[in-house]
Amino acid sequence: MNITIAGTGYVGLSNAVLFAQNHRVLALDVVPEKVALINQKRSPIADKEIETYLATKKLDLRATTDVAEAYQDADLVFVCTPTNYDVATHHFDTSSVEKVINDVLQLNTKATIVIKSTIPIGFTKSMRLKHDTDRIVFSPEFLREGKALYDNLHPSRIIVGDKSSRGEQVALLLKEGALEKDVAVLLTDFDEAEAVKLFANNYLALRVAYFNELDSYCVDQNLNAKEIIQGVSLDPRIGDYYNNPSFGYGGYCLPKDTKQLVANFEGIPQNIISAIVEANDTRKTFIVDRIASKPIKVVGGYRLIMKLGSDNFRDAAIVDVLERLKAKGLEVVIYEPQIKEEQYSGFKVVNDLSAFKEQCDTILVNRLENDELNDILDKVFTRDLYHRD
Ligand SMILES: NC(=O)c1ccc[n+]([C@@H]2O[C@H](COP(=O)([O-])OP(=O)(O)OC[C@H]3O[C@@H](n4cnc5c(N)ncnc54)[C@H](O)[C@@H]3O)[C@@H](O)[C@H]2O)c1
Repeated sequence: MNITIAGTGYVGLSNAVLFAQNHRVLALDVVPEKVALINQKRSPIADKEIETYLATKKLDLRATTDVAEAYQDADLVFVCTPTNYDVATHHFDTSSVEKVINDVLQLNTKATIVIKSTIPIGFTKSMRLKHDTDRIVFSPEFLREGKALYDNLHPSRIIVGDKSSRGEQVALLLKEGALEKDVAVLLTDFDEAEAVKLFANNYLALRVAYFNELDSYCVDQNLNAKEIIQGVSLDPRIGDYYNNPSFGYGGYCLPKDTKQLVANFEGIPQNIISAIVEANDTRKTFIVDRIASKPIKVVGGYRLIMKLGSDNFRDAAIVDVLERLKAKGLEVVIYEPQIKEEQYSGFKVVNDLSAFKEQCDTILVNRLENDELNDILDKVFTRDLYHRD
């Protein structure tokens, strides 16, 4: 089949590589540099499996910036473009997804359009009504950044919001590319598939917020959080995973998906959904107040990446914490080798590690990646108790 992927970020590129094992794939992006890298078999994002597959596997994959070329001969188009949260409307900005849908419907009379981007509940139905077509389906994406292709080769589940043969075809395609063959497949209606994605991410955010709040209690009361979390998590109904405290949940998806679900609940009584968003904010304030109450002048931020192995700082909790500390009058210095400039978001960047250690009175670390700071652990403030997640 001819498969087009619109958007070559984490979701698009991992799916492009997955399908290119068995089909002809054309990947479209608006950023020419990304397109050029993919055509050189190099990954624009840090992802071990994507890098290895691009370099070593036989893939039928080409990238382009040409919209007409991308859509006109496609049998399927996967939409993997951004849906950022818009603070003015309190909703996802779905304009990039809508643009792709418009373009495909204009240029191609048969292709199935599969939305992989995370969208508000009700979006697929509204697009089908607007365009008077049943060619649009939604399939939630569950991958983690840094393990994007791995998670599509070993999917936790495959869900497609379309119970017809169109939905079956999409599910089979996703299963065909996976290494894990014993995978649960669920076909639902569109609204339900959209809800699965948002409720799943809200549960993950809730869990992070819960263990963070437990940790705030321990810090305040001077209790051993590690022992308490271990004792709590030994109950198999709770489980000893995804329970490592942090400065707050962050990254591209959880902050925006939690806010979008609050918007979807408008007019429906709820407490927990809003509380997740509020708890994350309270956690950051708690961390800020602990640091600001110390007699210090210069605070350091060691790495801005949200989690181990990540290559971006989209909505990273530590950035928010550092911005709030700066607003309280503290001088903020950051160590982040991925930033080549001398300034980032108003912070001074010091990528000479010895100079960084020397300058800072306290160093904030969301995740202790290695032993680089072992010689100055008395300066380090972290809540990373397990060195994972
Ligand atoms: N990153 C994740 O871990 C993850 C996981 C599950 C779901 N999602 C969802 O998937 C969607 C994409 O996320 P991502 O992290 O891959 O985003 P990304 O920002 O990494 O990539 C999006 C890509 O789309 C391109 N793009 C924008 N407009 C375009 C257009 N009109 N035509 C073609 N390309 C266009 C951008 O240049 C960019 O390369 C979002 O809705 C996100 O919520 C992301």
